[in-house]
Amino acid sequence: MMSRRLEVGMARILGIGGYVPDKVMTNDDWAAIVDTTDEWITTRTGIKERRFAAEDESTLDLCVHAAERALADAGLAATDVGEIIVATDTPEVYMPDTASFLQHRLGCDTVPAYDLGGSGCAGFVQALDIARSRIAFADRKVLVIGVELISRLISWQERETCVLFGDGAGAVVLGSGAGQAELLDVVAGTDGSKTDILTLVAGGTRMPFTIETARSGAHQHLEMNGREVFKQAVHRMSGGVDDVLSRIGRTIDDVALVIPHQANKRIIDAVAKKAGIELDRVFVNVQSFGNTGSASVPLGLWQAREANRIAEGDLVVLTAFGAGFHWAAAALQF
Ligand SMILES: CC(C)(COP(=O)(O)OP(=O)(O)OC[C@H]1O[C@@H](n2cnc3c(N)ncnc32)[C@H](O)[C@@H]1OP(=O)(O)O)[C@@H](O)C(=O)NCCC(=O)NCCS
Repeated sequence: MMSRRLEVGMARILGIGGYVPDKVMTNDDWAAIVDTTDEWITTRTGIKERRFAAEDESTLDLCVHAAERALADAGLAATDVGEIIVATDTPEVYMPDTASFLQHRLGCDTVPAYDLGGSGCAGFVQALDIARSRIAFADRKVLVIGVELISRLISWQERETCVLFGDGAGAVVLGSGAGQAELLDVVAGTDGSKTDILTLVAGGTRMPFTIETARSGAHQHLEMNGREVFKQAVHRMSGGVDDVLSRIGRTIDDVALVIPHQANKRIIDAVAKKAGIELDRVFVNVQSFGNTGSASVPLGLWQAREANRIAEGDLVVLTAFGAGFHWAAAALQF
């Protein structure tokens, strides 16, 4: 029987794009709505402002902007895309998935398109892992998007969570041809014993939507044990950096830039310290965008590249964590 060898490492990033809405929501804007202050938000999270989608924008619109930029960056047309993966916890509609809408709106052919939902902020990096195996087995160009429109689905009354998030989208096109960066490896893991530290329960079979859940605001209530999430985030994101580097036989000294999930500046500082890297080699935009969920890492990658923080020859490490409790890290050789 013929067997097909899996060529790990053959996936390359062909194009990168990102999009954030124009509307800026500052900490002072939040202080006019909930019992908080710019000082509290800044010292606890490093966030100064975030972007919120306009009323007539939906998750799909954010995806389209980021995808079109990534395709243009790759010099590709929508019809060149062979598969679409959208990582999001804030989809266009409950069913079908956002990827189906995106496939049609972009004008891709009838290629497979699916969402990675519920994977929290680790979704985009997890999707890179799936994409590279699709490229290895099916040799197609895969459009991977991380997108969130959190401002419309989260409670605007709960100060513990509402001030943390922002809206945005980031996209990459991956394929086996010549590209900007080689995806050297990806590591990913899940600790399913920690589903309770970050969860939105209402809407599933455990708590279906009813008038009562809507009245109580349960459908917008993000249950979060902030301190536990903080600890796990530091442990898993720094561990992801170590693991992916050891798999490719490199050390932290070889890394030009780490792009971590942007949840909290204090988490980023602690990850940098644990991973043994100075902050000038760590990309940070949490002050401007807040936590954009699964969009945060591709947005960081896009911004870092646009700001010339990445040069040819650079080894770049992406690392993320999210509800699940999931984590994933990827090494890119530019
Ligand atoms: C949420 C987080 C910023 C809170 O910071 P913290 O230093 O752990 O703060 P604590 O939980 O100890 O809360 C301290 C106090 O601030 C209050 N507080 C919470 N949110 C507040 C806000 N927006 N404004 C003012 N006070 C607030 C709390 O009620 C608490 O009050 P108390 O001491 O009277 O009980 C921090 O835990 C964190 O970032 N965790 C990770 C969360 C995360 O990344 N989530 C997304 C994952 S993708």
